[in-house]
Amino acid sequence: MVVFPNCKINLGLNILHKRDDGFHNLETVFYPVPVTDVLEITRSSTHGQDVIFSQSGNGIDGDIADNLCVKAWHLLKKDFPALPPVQMHLHKAIPMGAGLGGGSADGAFVLQLLNKKFNLGIAETALIPYALQLGSDCPFFMVNKPCFATGRGEQLQPLKLSLSGYTLLLINPGIHINTGWAFKQLGGILTNRESKNLLRHIAEPVANWRNLVVNDFEAAVFPAYPAIQTIKEMLYDHGAGYAAMSGSGSSVFGLFKDAPPALSNLPTHYYVRSILL
Ligand code: C5P
Repeated sequence: MVVFPNCKINLGLNILHKRDDGFHNLETVFYPVPVTDVLEITRSSTHGQDVIFSQSGNGIDGDIADNLCVKAWHLLKKDFPALPPVQMHLHKAIPMGAGLGGGSADGAFVLQLLNKKFNLGIAETALIPYALQLGSDCPFFMVNKPCFATGRGEQLQPLKLSLSGYTLLLINPGIHINTGWAFKQLGGILTNRESKNLLRHIAEPVANWRNLVVNDFEAAVFPAYPAIQTIKEMLYDHGAGYAAMSGSGSSVFGLFKDAPPALSNLPTHYYVRSILL
């Protein structure tokens, strides 16, 4: 069975406060974006190994045991001992360490695919706690529609928000940002508020978002990586209705009502995609 895990952007991201469990409560709007990896899972014919994992496309850092796809299988195996050994192949196209939730999407899609392929009978709502064990961004991909998210990102409220007709210009400068590091940089910036009214602000026309909708990580990440801030400014200079960093970075996106600009003098190693939403 083959599936196509897509990525997301964050339309605003407000970090509210640090919790006793070390995580932060936040509010954000997740918006799915049709840039995808490719994931295939087949029942394994070889004995002895639980998951045989292979990959192609962009190289994935780190140990295979830490890969969210492999972790997802082990998570379900604990509660569903009959889950058979599998072979997984992941073709990685979504930039990594990029604030696009690509790894989270892969893990979430594995949970869904295993549930379906092996008839585990787990209801969608019951899959969310499994997804949250994999990572804070994973539950969103169970819904995969525009959502207002609170808590760590797992309390999801679908929104009637459509950017259909806008072109999304997505730029990643190839800087790998560790989410844990980005949260640590926030130390002095946290405001300990219950809400920053993102839900109200996102209901305004896109043209008003520039002055209302904020990604708090920008204040933490831009000083360390000025090249990311430069991309955001360039998108506004070229007529974006709204531009922001996604998640903890390093990807930046701009929303364009008309045809997006041709950006000719970007460094050649930048990843640039123009997507009609
Ligand atoms: O959940 P995830 O694995 O994506 O989180 C990576 C790190 O980011 C966590 O270990 C934690 O330090 C931080 N984090 C946080 N609050 C969140 C999400 C992540 O502090 N809501």
